[in-house]
Amino acid sequence: MSYTARTGLAVVIAVATAGTVHAMSVTRSPFGETPEGTPVYEYTLKNDAGMAVDVLTYGGIVQSIRVPDRNGRVEDVALGFDRLKPYLDNGPYFGALIGRYGNRIDGGTFTLDGETYHVPTNDGDNALHGGPEGFDSRVWQARAIEAPNRVGVELSLLSRDGDMGFPGDLAVTVRYTLNQHNDLRIHYTAISDAPTVVNLTNHTYFNLAGAGEGDVLDQVAMINADRYTPVDTSLIPTGSLAGVEGTPFDFRTPTRIGAHIRDDDPQLARTEPDQGGYDHNWVLNTGGSLDALAARVSDPVSGRTLTMRTTEPGVQFYTGNFLDGSLEGKNGKTYGHWGGFTLETQHFPDAPNHPDFPSTRIEPGEPYHQTTVFHFSP
Ligand code: BGC
Repeated sequence: MSYTARTGLAVVIAVATAGTVHAMSVTRSPFGETPEGTPVYEYTLKNDAGMAVDVLTYGGIVQSIRVPDRNGRVEDVALGFDRLKPYLDNGPYFGALIGRYGNRIDGGTFTLDGETYHVPTNDGDNALHGGPEGFDSRVWQARAIEAPNRVGVELSLLSRDGDMGFPGDLAVTVRYTLNQHNDLRIHYTAISDAPTVVNLTNHTYFNLAGAGEGDVLDQVAMINADRYTPVDTSLIPTGSLAGVEGTPFDFRTPTRIGAHIRDDDPQLARTEPDQGGYDHNWVLNTGGSLDALAARVSDPVSGRTLTMRTTEPGVQFYTGNFLDGSLEGKNGKTYGHWGGFTLETQHFPDAPNHPDFPSTRIEPGEPYHQTTVFHFSP
């Protein structure tokens, strides 16, 4: 299906400010349907600065992020698929909205107020990203957002008490917005009618050279974190907060992603049996402030730079260690080992079983709010 055909039914909203009509727009087009016959739509957000983002109502998936480089050359920097079918087939969470619980819960089991809950396991003995039917595989309700200086899409979902084993009816709203400054902002809110745990994130894999353009080892990362959470052999945090100083986890100053990825380090080896890589939670120094820089990654060749700010206390920096080139991605490209990196902003993995970690518990009627901003510059 060509892009023009897909946008055939599109509704374009031009936003006018102080007499100037900007080409900022949000459009909606069909993106297939689920096996049950539920239609799926793609919302395309565009600004004047040459940036465009596609979001699917299936899984709240960021299907593409098109950004110019220093010469104005636009590339799609998000890994993913052209069609709905491979997303339905449970891929590696390309671009997906993750819930109720991003990352792992040990044994899929946790206790709240003396009651034990079980989330079905889908990663060895652990529950990963909310279990086998997480928010990444739901069709979300959607509506376009048009504001004077940003466009976006608001997605909402009602997750019923007992959904994937979690207690409480949970109403979730996620807003993706794009402004004229190339900020892609993700704002998460949720409210429950019972005590429960929540840890929402987005699982976009970035390759700033362009999705499918080789690995990301020469891209340069900075993560504003003095500590990270080491893991056991099933990638569950041991509970300690280890210093990054003198380890391959020290990205406090800009460092090539590949500089230490092959170091002989038990933490790196444990993430994937053959070549390993990063798949860990960094404890951010930012105190949950959107004014503080949490991470920055740049591609020296294209000049594209991504900066990330977040209200969350942690970020999972994952280097696509389980990608193996076997999936056909967008435009026939494939994504090999280390072919992308994620910056999954989050509370720490398995926090419900670690009372010392920042709590993921929410109380009935008390809204959960988190925000992450990805800013792109050439
Ligand atoms: C996890 C990886 C996992 C991946 C799924 C990441 O958030 O940390 O271990 O394989 O998601 O694609």
